[in-house]
This record gives sequence, C-alpha cells and structure tokens, in this order.
Amino acid sequence: MSDTVPAGVTIEDLHKSYGDNEVLQGISITVNPGEVVCLIGATGSGKSTLLRCVNRLEDPNSGRILVGEFDATDPDVNLDAMRRKIGMVFQQFNLFPHLSVLENCTITPRRVLKQPRAEAEAEAMHQLELVGLQHLAHRRPAQLSGGQQQRVAIARALTMKPSLMLFDEPTSALDPETVGDVLAIMRDLAQAGMTMIVVTHEMGFAREVADRVVFMNQGRVVEEGPAQQVIGAPAQPRTQDFLRRVLNPLGE
Ligand SMILES: Nc1ncnc2c1ncn2[C@@H]1O[C@H](COP(=O)(O)OP(=O)(O)OP(=O)(O)O)[C@@H](O)[C@H]1O
Ligand SMILES: [Mg+2]
Repeated sequence: MSDTVPAGVTIEDLHKSYGDNEVLQGISITVNPGEVVCLIGATGSGKSTLLRCVNRLEDPNSGRILVGEFDATDPDVNLDAMRRKIGMVFQQFNLFPHLSVLENCTITPRRVLKQPRAEAEAEAMHQLELVGLQHLAHRRPAQLSGGQQQRVAIARALTMKPSLMLFDEPTSALDPETVGDVLAIMRDLAQAGMTMIVVTHEMGFAREVADRVVFMNQGRVVEEGPAQQVIGAPAQPRTQDFLRRVLNPLGE
C-alpha cells in the first residue's frame, strides 16, 4: 500500500439496461478515498452489474462514474490506464490454471507494466508474503484450497498497485473454514487505507470493516449509512426483511 494513492469513487444517477430489463435504475454512491463500502442486497438487485460498470466491463446507459482522476463514463477515457488502477476480485478467483501461483502474480505486471522478471517476482513474493502464501509460490492453483486461491487472487491484484479494489462476493464460493483467512486479509487491506467496494453477504465483516453499507433492491439504493445503523437498526422495511432472511435463513 505504501506507494499507492487510494482513489475516491463517485457514481451519479447510473442507469443500465439489458434489453427491456433496467437493472440499475439511477444509482448514486460516493466512496471517499480510503473508505470501505459494502454493497448488500438480494440476488438480481444489480450489485455485480454496478461493480462491472465501475471498471467498464459493462457500459452504462447513462449517468456518471468518476474513479480518482478518471471519468469512467467519458467515451475518450483511457480504459487501460484506468483499469490498471482498479483491482477486481471475483467469487471464482479466475486464476490461470496452467501457471504457478508466482506466475499468476507476475504475468500482468510483466506484460502490462513491462516490469523486468526479477522486479515483478520480488513484488509478487512480497504480496504473497502479506497474504501468508509465499511458501506456495511454485504450486499450481489446483493444488491450493479455495481460500488460498482467493488469497492469491488478492495478492495478484495488489501487485498492480491499485487505487481501488472491487470485490464481488469474494468468500461465497469458499468452504466455511477458509472464509476467515480471506476476510482477515481484506480487513488488513482496509486498515492499510485501500478504497474498497465489497459485495458481500458476510454481515459480520460488513459491521466490523465497512465505513458504510449500501442496501440495493431491484436496481435502486434503498438505504445506506454506517454499518451499525444499516445492519443493526435498518430503517426501511425491505432492508429489515432482507437482513432477517440473511441472518436467519430458516426463519426461526
Ligand atoms: N450480461 C447480461 N445480460 C442480460 N442480463 C443480465 C446480464 N448480467 C446481468 N443481467 C441481469 O441483471 C440483473 C442484475 O444482475 P446482477 O448480476 O447485477 O445482480 P446481483 O445483485 O449481482 O445478483 P447476485 O446476488 O445473484 O450475484 C439480473 O436480472 C440479471 O439477470
Ligand atoms: Mg452478483
């Protein structure tokens, strides 16, 4: 984190449709540099679409997204330069199966930033050490647990010195006993000052780490505020209903 500058994110009145299906219906969210915002909401509410619009994996129909110095919605934005500053971690890790852990962490810095191999490897080993996996650098992803693979995915993103990290349900595919290791790394990253937008169902993490929680429903922001407030004492009936189901799935 030492040589990265966290970016702020401003999302203004964002709309996105797939055909007739308007999945984002005017979303506005501000994330200050170094803040952690957790996005929660039922399936299909548009959380992934929103994250994908931020790094322009999807093109919004209207509205504005500013990421640090970049206007993501400007047709002339330098997308490559912007995406270099945005790390993204997915539910399914997306590591290259045929490359070692170390190669997974060096391929983008070498190809995109043209870093010499030794420099890229030194930085990758540093990031792997921070996630506690330097001893597995020469294994293939398939030889690691899901939690370890996700920690590699985070280390890989950090080798690019991002100013913003986007997480889309990073622990949803993990065995329960490995979830904590991944969340602990995300907490450390938050404490180091990274700007983070995290889609998650981990309400304990959101309560502890998030500066703010945003509850989305059917393409709109229904409620947002400090985690203690939105999770602990939600004001809107739809938020209350969602949290009741997440926190107590059997309804007992
Ligand atoms: N590429 C696409 N083409 C058409 N429709 C899409 C596409 N991606 C998402 N959608 C639709 O957009 C809506 C929002 O999907 P999105 O994946 O953003 O929701 P989500 O909140 O991330 O849900 P989940 O919690 O299940 O991940 C859904 O109705 C989905 O079917
Ligand atoms: Mg999703």
